[in-house]
Amino acid sequence: MYGKKVMEYFMNPKHVGVIENADAIGEVGNIYCGDKMWLYLKIEEVKDKKIIKNVRFKTLGCVAAIASSEALARVVEGKTINEALEIKDEDILKELGSLPDAKIHCSLLAINALKEAIYNYFKKNNIEIPEELENHHKKILKMLEKAEERRRELEKN
Ligand code: FES
Repeated sequence: MYGKKVMEYFMNPKHVGVIENADAIGEVGNIYCGDKMWLYLKIEEVKDKKIIKNVRFKTLGCVAAIASSEALARVVEGKTINEALEIKDEDILKELGSLPDAKIHCSLLAINALKEAIYNYFKKNNIEIPEELENHHKKILKMLEKAEERRRELEKN
């Protein structure tokens, strides 16, 4: 069902963990299954550029979600914040090789966590937040609430 790279990233992720003094944190949830992900970024300013130096994640999710989290970390590390904002779900899927159609929604956790972490960084540093990112943040907050409800429902059954 899963490709070689997906299994490799799932079995041997290099970016699992927490950055204690992270410069940015993104927390997201999946409304279908209640799974969750936290993304931690360490950002350094080098000559006016804000560079993502270190990425860690915690993902309570399936094989596809964990492999996507690892793929995202690999794609994002070393990029500037502006470059990271341009990353799309397709870039994560490309890094993974492929995912079964039914599992595409799992990979969205990773890209949403990245957007949320960048939102968090802008907010903390009083940087003007692009309208698209602001709207995305509102959607994510609603999704997080629904994901919590979903998780509670599943735990009852
Ligand atoms: Fe929940 Fe994949 S089934 S993220």
